[in-house]
Amino acid sequence: MWSTCRYFLVRCVCLKRMTLMRALGCVLLLSVLTSVLFSYHLMSFKISSSKRTLVSPQPQVSCPPDPDIPPNFTYQPRDHRTKERNHLGRRALIIVENQYTKTGKGIHNVLDALRIDSKVETIGNNLPMLTHGEKGKFAVIIFENYSTYLTMDSWNRQLLDKYCKNYNVGIIAFIQPKRDDVFLENLNDFPLTVEYNIPLVNYKLNIYSTIWRMSKPGRLYEGELAGNWAVFHFNHATYQPLSYSYLKSSLNQDPSANPADSKPKRLVPAIHDTGQLDGIQRILFGGGLEFWMHHMMFVDSLSYLSHGKLSITLDRYIQVDIDDIFVGKEGVRVKVEDVMAMLSSQKYLQTVMEGFHFNLGFSGRFYLHGNAEEDAGDKKLLEYRHHFWWFGHMFKHEQAHSLDVRNVELSMTLNKQFAQDNAIPVDQHYAVAPHHSGVYPVHEELYDAWRKIWDIKVTSTEEYPFLYPFWGRRGFVHRGIMVLPRQTCGLFTHTVFVTDYKDGLQGLEENFKGGELFLTVLYSPFNIFMTHMNNYGNDRVALFTFEGMVKFLQCWTNLRLISVPPVQLGINYFNMFPEEKDPLWQNPCDYKRHIAIWSANKSCERLPRFLVVGPQKTGTTALYTFLSMHPAVVSNYDSATTFEEVQFFNGNNYYKGIDWYMEFFPVPQNSTGTYLFEKSATYFDHEIVPQRVSSLLPRAKIICILIDPAKRAYSWYQHQRAHKDPVALNYSFNAVLMADERMPRQVRDLRNRCLDPGMYAQHLMHWLDYFPARQLFIIDGEQLRNNPIHVMHKLQQFIHIQPYFDYSQHLRFDPQKGFFCQVMNDNRNKCLGRGKGRMYDAMDETSATFLRHFYRKHNANLSKLLNKLNFPVPSWLQDALADDN
Ligand code: A3P
Repeated sequence: MWSTCRYFLVRCVCLKRMTLMRALGCVLLLSVLTSVLFSYHLMSFKISSSKRTLVSPQPQVSCPPDPDIPPNFTYQPRDHRTKERNHLGRRALIIVENQYTKTGKGIHNVLDALRIDSKVETIGNNLPMLTHGEKGKFAVIIFENYSTYLTMDSWNRQLLDKYCKNYNVGIIAFIQPKRDDVFLENLNDFPLTVEYNIPLVNYKLNIYSTIWRMSKPGRLYEGELAGNWAVFHFNHATYQPLSYSYLKSSLNQDPSANPADSKPKRLVPAIHDTGQLDGIQRILFGGGLEFWMHHMMFVDSLSYLSHGKLSITLDRYIQVDIDDIFVGKEGVRVKVEDVMAMLSSQKYLQTVMEGFHFNLGFSGRFYLHGNAEEDAGDKKLLEYRHHFWWFGHMFKHEQAHSLDVRNVELSMTLNKQFAQDNAIPVDQHYAVAPHHSGVYPVHEELYDAWRKIWDIKVTSTEEYPFLYPFWGRRGFVHRGIMVLPRQTCGLFTHTVFVTDYKDGLQGLEENFKGGELFLTVLYSPFNIFMTHMNNYGNDRVALFTFEGMVKFLQCWTNLRLISVPPVQLGINYFNMFPEEKDPLWQNPCDYKRHIAIWSANKSCERLPRFLVVGPQKTGTTALYTFLSMHPAVVSNYDSATTFEEVQFFNGNNYYKGIDWYMEFFPVPQNSTGTYLFEKSATYFDHEIVPQRVSSLLPRAKIICILIDPAKRAYSWYQHQRAHKDPVALNYSFNAVLMADERMPRQVRDLRNRCLDPGMYAQHLMHWLDYFPARQLFIIDGEQLRNNPIHVMHKLQQFIHIQPYFDYSQHLRFDPQKGFFCQVMNDNRNKCLGRGKGRMYDAMDETSATFLRHFYRKHNANLSKLLNKLNFPVPSWLQDALADDN
């Protein structure tokens, strides 16, 4: 069915120079197809109204106080920030037993969710990062298993303890049982005993601990705790319990049997070593992150032990979108009483989050598409339209990526007309796309139409960069539209009744009582939840979920729940995470969800297989020309502004998106036998470029050319003069090199631009952060100049270019030019233009000496790096190093 529709869609989209009649005909056809597809989709979703719970469930969130709290107990969340945090990086070191353990991965994921950078080390390794150049880098050290710390070899242990003392950072550790039975163990070096495999019941926080920030002490969690726990026994003042729990068997004892035993046995499953013994603070957990309260406690521990460096805001923005308020099959749509329930639930939510409104997305075509009761529900929604926020979808809920710009606009215009006809207030400048289609990967046509028809400023998607893991979703800005990450809250089009949930009501409840929904809010300051109309009719699972979520969060956390209109939400988001504004484009064909919502007219084959990245003035144009001579190697089209260089990955072109980039490449006739490539010599030394390239072209081969950096600097200076750069014309080479703070800023800038690219090792390291060495090919620029036939032979081998091209037949030395040139016929060569292989005076001796000193360290580093990678060391580098000795 889909392929038939696709055939028609493609035909429609491909009609060139469409007449108006033809266009309308096509729109009609598309509409029919979309409706057919949509009903097909709905039909495949089987509904049994017998499942319906007669009375919609109400969330029960009991919030019993800890019976031991003193009267009038109140708790102010702590501010852990002290000056000490200024010496620390926003980074944590995680030490794991091996990289596959569940707890280790769990810890890493939590830090990821909190946007805290982390380094994972296995215990077998030494910890050189604590001694070399990374001092103060880690704001906290985390052990997935405390016994790893206790049994560390003395060198590593001393190193670690010293680091913790020097920077006053603490250790968080989890206790992992070694056996299955109950046993006691005295911990080496500490007056602390651990009792393993204890079944526990009920849990509460120690209200006297000073670490609670997100967690709200003074509540009692009633219930059995899953798993077998470790508990702590101690008799030293350095230890302060963080929480209490009770021995399961002691709770239900018959008090009449032995009155002395009638008090349930209180145990300590998490403890704080305040550092009185050795100056190092430690927080130890007797259970893992499977227990939801430990997540809050872990976040508080990170914040406390890092002096606030790893604190995250307590503000939690909440937005609830009802994506398709009129889209739903007859029989499961909202009725009048459901709308009234929505309004009353919204009223309750407003008492917690001032200004909260359900955000209703509409596709006008499906208005009044239910039975009589449901149509009355639709009308009721419009009657109360001013009580909600609204945003426009596509008129027929079409997927934008399958439409051209004209049809995207047409659909939006129809929907806008529907809003006007029904006086729906649509002033939020917010929209989402059906099935996320066209938001990411970007379908430029959708963005064009959003701006033009609706003046959209903010949207949201689950797809950037990927749907999974949910905590890894991020935002970006494209063409002035803020794209925010949205979260899943466990409510889907098919979850209409409580019985749709595994474990029924309990399963639905678990989601917000410490389950995925709870953790989502715990970790993400911005929460845009997607729900559907069906979740508000029937068993009203959405109202149950959000009221329950809010009550549970209020009971257990100090989080401040906030609602602001979508545009403000976007502004606040990028104020908090400004580094996310820049997108990081990926190859849409590397992820099947992305291919599904990317236009069928676009092809990932229009992306290069290898890049020549520079640096400038090393012979990049010669290499580009030689490569282009190969019948199977195809370069990009010329740019109107930067000629043979596209310069996409550095600078502002990147923000134009990948459609713009792909326009520079032909669709290859034979995708396996054609080698598309691009050369932009500015890529090599831009710090941001390697990451961007690896994100879009992770399998690309990276080619760079290195010549003596001193020669390169001089050639670059001459190039600036030839291009009439006023600074280069007014200042001698030597004056530029010597420019210090007393010189005008432009001269200093020119100096840096002249010298920086030549710090080869440092730039190569950036590339190696994102690409394995086997994808990197380094050409000796002197060899390229003097023996290009050999270089081209090696390069073809490296890229595995087929068929082999024998350059000895096509290149020869041109005595007049003084360089190798392309053989045109027996008498004629085609050489590079006057701008390549320029004639200029030899470099003055003072500058040469200065540059020799300046690059000495960088050259030595380059030689070390090349040796380490087992790459050949160019002869010019060997000579330069020999001169230095
Ligand atoms: P000069 O003009 O200073 O001699 P790029 O193309 O990266 O801008 O590099 C230009 C340099 O390429 C020239 O610098 C020249 O030395 C070098 N080169 C190497 N092989 C060449 C060739 N076959 N023809 C012209 N220049 C070549």
